[in-house]
Amino acid sequence: MAADVKILRGNIIHTPALGELETLAGGYLVLEDGVIQGIFPVLPERYAACPVENWGDRLIMPAFADMHLHAPQYPMLGMGMDLPLLEWLNAYTFQTEERFADLDYARRVYRRLAEELIANGTTRVVMFSSRHADATLVLMEELERAGVCGCVGKVNMDRNSGVAQETTEASMAETLRWLDGCRFDHVKPILTPRFTPSCSDELMAFLGRLARERDLPVQSHLSENLDEVAWVRRLHPDCGRYWETYEKFGLWKEGTLMAHCVHSDEAERGAMAGHGVWAVHCAASNVNLCSGTAPVRRLLEDGVRVALGSDVAGGDQLAMYQVVTASIRASKIRSIETGDRPLTVPEAFYLGAAAGQRYFGGGAGFVPGEKLHAIVVDEGAFPEPVRALTLAERFERAVYLMDKSSILAVYSDSRRVDRKERAHGGEI
Ligand code: GUN
Ligand code: FE
Repeated sequence: MAADVKILRGNIIHTPALGELETLAGGYLVLEDGVIQGIFPVLPERYAACPVENWGDRLIMPAFADMHLHAPQYPMLGMGMDLPLLEWLNAYTFQTEERFADLDYARRVYRRLAEELIANGTTRVVMFSSRHADATLVLMEELERAGVCGCVGKVNMDRNSGVAQETTEASMAETLRWLDGCRFDHVKPILTPRFTPSCSDELMAFLGRLARERDLPVQSHLSENLDEVAWVRRLHPDCGRYWETYEKFGLWKEGTLMAHCVHSDEAERGAMAGHGVWAVHCAASNVNLCSGTAPVRRLLEDGVRVALGSDVAGGDQLAMYQVVTASIRASKIRSIETGDRPLTVPEAFYLGAAAGQRYFGGGAGFVPGEKLHAIVVDEGAFPEPVRALTLAERFERAVYLMDKSSILAVYSDSRRVDRKERAHGGEI
């Protein structure tokens, strides 16, 4: 049977490696049966008879990957921003997350969240849910329905968690029940001890065993805030550094995602690079919660794999284009203080899009053999420039200036998933 061919035409821009920007004016991006065949300056003869989705002078760019956010904190976006981390958790966060015992509420909030992710061009995520198994399944259902791909974790928290605390036994039983219910094509489970202070040794050991026995990925928080780091030291006096509290229980392994790493020193960074643990940099959140500015350049130079996260709602912006520019700004503040080279626009965009793609087993950018995750950006609402811009300049402006209304189309796993298209029905 002949392959199902889809062709997108437009100005194709992507980052095939960290710091590299590749642009192709009026290029063709070809898919066969939902698999990228390549990007071509001239349409190959064999596709001459195939219909072309022509985006004209618009920009076709990779979609974003948000590698750390808390879905049940979406209702408190923009709240509690005058508090540092530990006070913010107790004053706002635990109460907000507890609302998700109510499944109707969860359904409403998560449907809206999933739609907003797609509208803002985020097609891949790694998320924290709340402690609730059922609401976590609702979240996974809503992501699947909207076309968001990735991983979601039921949060485990059996100590120091105020109104959101669960018993150790309930935490373990609910985790197993939740895993039994995870049957989604594009949304997979990830084990999620909230952070060391909120998990007993028994719970950590249980999760470590589960990770090994079922070959499940793990996510948590690491070295975000100085008070937190000091607390972890008191809780685990046998551990020289924060990361060892995860390693002790088998949670520090290839592919583990650790959010923040603001205060990870050279030794901790070395342990990340050596074990294949990822740092998820959440610049906006780190500034909001007065945590600091993470040593992104040093993480990269030390060989740590780095991706970006919105950390909603420590981060106040769900849109990853804003998280990308926040990470550039934070790196510039840090460069003034430490001399570390700031992130460039192509570097930060790579971390906000391609790095997540790589976490999920892909390459970087539009790679033959992979599914398409892409956005189409219209620059019509941007200020008129004084001269014709190069595609690299247009890319930079798009990263800084785009918003929901300038994202005309979103493709996730080779399906067109934006509501602009849904209003007319159909897939690419
Ligand atoms: N550490 C433990 N829980 C949280 C959380 O919800 N947000 C952030 N930013 N850090 C945490
Ligand atoms: Fe977080």
